[in-house]
Amino acid sequence: MTLAAVMRTLDGPLTVEEIDLNPTGPGQVRVRLAAAGVCHSDLSLANGTLRQPLPAVLGHEGAGVVTEVGEGVTSVRPGDHVVLNWSPPCRACWFCDHGEPYLCAHADDARAVPFATSAGTPVYAGLGTGAFASETVVGAHACIPVPPDIPLAEAALLGCAVLTGVGAVTNAARVRPGETVAVIGLGGVGLAAIQGARIAGASEIIAVDPSPAKEPLARSLGATHFVPPHAGLPKEIRTLTGGLGADHAIECVGRGETIRAAWSSTRRGGTATVVGLGSAQDPVTFNALEVAFFARRIVGCMYGNTDPAVDVPILLEHYRAGRLNLAALVTDEVDLSGIGEAFTRMRSGQGARTLVRFQSPAA
Ligand code: APR
Ligand code: ZN
Repeated sequence: MTLAAVMRTLDGPLTVEEIDLNPTGPGQVRVRLAAAGVCHSDLSLANGTLRQPLPAVLGHEGAGVVTEVGEGVTSVRPGDHVVLNWSPPCRACWFCDHGEPYLCAHADDARAVPFATSAGTPVYAGLGTGAFASETVVGAHACIPVPPDIPLAEAALLGCAVLTGVGAVTNAARVRPGETVAVIGLGGVGLAAIQGARIAGASEIIAVDPSPAKEPLARSLGATHFVPPHAGLPKEIRTLTGGLGADHAIECVGRGETIRAAWSSTRRGGTATVVGLGSAQDPVTFNALEVAFFARRIVGCMYGNTDPAVDVPILLEHYRAGRLNLAALVTDEVDLSGIGEAFTRMRSGQGARTLVRFQSPAA
């Protein structure tokens, strides 16, 4: 029996019900989830900021155990522990061929095909993974094997927040030792970005969030300063960086206003890296003088510009060496019925990651 949190209407409740997973087809893998993080992108899919065919089972930050493999699958076997990859590269398109698997032309293919039915109605998997379910069926290339001694509840966070946040700093911004970094927005993604900046050897890490409750956590993960957002934020960041502005700003909110503040907080010639995924109705404006004059760069990134098959093992090395604290990102744990509460906390900026824990296997 597969239990899932099913969303039937836009902004509607997620109801826990039984679904019938499709049979594991050729090239597919069935995974029993151990844990799944609730990410802001789930909320954006639930409220229509990002598009999602319905009914749907959201959840894309999951880890679990392989229970069945379809014909032709050789990369994993039943019993293997895996992290789910919500943007699996095809390894054959132009982007994959040119070293940009995070922009794979086929990364979205699984999102358009139902992965289950509920009372005969097709059900879609949010971001192609459907991790808010006790089991899911995904393509083999969406399964990243992880060693069995890594707790699955912590491994789940690698699947989105940590690949995205650490990757934004190391792979997209390419922060160098001694550089200064401002991280705007301290959810699971921003707190991972702080750790990425610390791992990269940043000299100053300025954490920005309206919630004062985030300060101790941000500092414990590497932030050297904590500042609430306000109209004078760029000026305050200049003051904190010897009058220059930060070498890098990493935007982890996904709003026009914060993207603009991130850009303005960097030094002349600095780089703003935008991780947040916002609304198509939320513009960011620049005047025609400042773009050339400040000579700053603004860059987007997807999935932290990572290749999960390459970057998950690197992140696990940081984890094993004690440089990457995964458990600290989890501030709440719920079962499948608690995702609505997690969205409520997220809307008000409380807590970091809420983790959905499943009964078995032990995580
Ligand atoms: N300035 C700074 N921080 C802000 C602001 C602001 N003006 N407004 C909100 N925040 C903070 C919230 O207080 C919260 O701590 O941004 C944080 C966002 O955290 P989450 O909602 O947990 O989001 P997260 O899952 O980390 O994702 C962040 O990355 O992948 C994308 O779609 C995702 O756009 C989202 C972003
Ligand atoms: Zn996510």
